[in-house]
Amino acid sequence: MTAPKKLFVKTYGCQMNVYDSERMAEALGGQGYVTTDRADDADMILLNTCHIREKAAEKVYSELGRFKGLKEEKPDLKIGVAGCVAQAEGAEIMRRQPLVDLVVGPQSYHRLPELEAKARSGEKALDTDFPEEDKFEKLKGKRKAQRGPTAFLTVQEGCDKFCAFCVVPYTRGAEVSRPADRILDEARDLVERGVREITLLGQNVNAYHGAGDGGDWSLARLIWALDKIDGLERIRFTTSHPNDMGDDLIAAHGECSKLMPYLHLPVQAGSDKILKRMNRSHTAESYLRLIERIRAARPDILMSGDFIVGFPEETEEDFQATMALIEEVNYGYAYSFKYSTRPGTPAAERAQVPEDEKDDRLQRLQALITRQQRACQDGMVGREVGVLFEKPGRFAGQMVGKSDYLHAVHVTAPDVAVGEIHRVRIVDSGANSLAGEVIAPV
Ligand code: 5AD
Ligand code: SF4
Repeated sequence: MTAPKKLFVKTYGCQMNVYDSERMAEALGGQGYVTTDRADDADMILLNTCHIREKAAEKVYSELGRFKGLKEEKPDLKIGVAGCVAQAEGAEIMRRQPLVDLVVGPQSYHRLPELEAKARSGEKALDTDFPEEDKFEKLKGKRKAQRGPTAFLTVQEGCDKFCAFCVVPYTRGAEVSRPADRILDEARDLVERGVREITLLGQNVNAYHGAGDGGDWSLARLIWALDKIDGLERIRFTTSHPNDMGDDLIAAHGECSKLMPYLHLPVQAGSDKILKRMNRSHTAESYLRLIERIRAARPDILMSGDFIVGFPEETEEDFQATMALIEEVNYGYAYSFKYSTRPGTPAAERAQVPEDEKDDRLQRLQALITRQQRACQDGMVGREVGVLFEKPGRFAGQMVGKSDYLHAVHVTAPDVAVGEIHRVRIVDSGANSLAGEVIAPV
């Protein structure tokens, strides 16, 4: 038997890329590849890239340049670029960096076995199609590598919203939802292999409307069907758009005990003028009222968000409206970014905010968010939460996991095993995690 070939995958960007990287590794598993976490050990290097913010492509080129020495040492080494930069730049990548043997977009990576064979035979292999066939269906049955008690499961891809700053509708294409029965099959398969928590993924996950029994299913309906799978204990979903928070999904947050009390609901900005220019089709007020309804259904829900500062034409007053909105919502977690021009998007053409102004706003916003995150984490002390344990900690007898609210929690409990869920009393709040004591199995 020949020794297996080794595949090194480096993932940039969002959780959907994490999921895609896993599936790409599985697709190449059939070609005799096993994964390695060392680039210098690999027969194939695959960069799964992200195009959401500026310099993403530049980062990829500089990373590729670093493989030059490796390729000289090992002429058989194949180098591939996957993901959204691959989609956006296509063959340009091979022109600019001749080291690259293979380029594959996010919608065609089920064709990796053929592309790899082509690259192996010495040809350049490129595929950035949006094919008719369902890549997930083509990859069915290949998902055998799952370890650990948590998993991502992509249910929806692409976006029709066209926020004026965002490349996703161009790189990932139009919104497509996977059929419900295929998602449920994949979920059951994951649970059989030890998974206890599934995070449903989609660029616009709450716009999910997949074919199922009796017509289109909403995300809430899918969640209720997942709720019935024995052995699956926790359900999460991300990322949502405020305009797609249906009544049934809000109600599920109150009624479905497996649906965790955490919701990532980006608003981007707090000024209606900026929201309009961003093409967000909601206002600050409608977002705040929505959160009121969500909190009425699930009072302890931890809210998380995304913010962009320095969007074209954002004034100090507009920025203050974002700060006021953050004060009002009180986030448990947030991601914040300086606006970054993306070629081909409408906002790229508009008057830009100076870089030092963006820096200053980002710093002020992050200070506020950090205070809120800190207060939220510290506020957990004294409470009892569920914790799903994921791995041993740094010290003997220590186990670490995630609380219902997605905080990292560590306990000293030698009897606790990976994959178990326990009730834990939180006793301390550290820099990045909580300390707890196990009370009883859930
Ligand atoms: N500049 C800065 N941030 C952006 N995001 C998306 N596009 C841009 C951009 N051009 C942020 C948004 C989105 C998150 C995934 O990335 O906040 O919610
Ligand atoms: Fe991008 Fe807006 Fe779609 Fe989110 S909703 S993926 S920010 S276009």
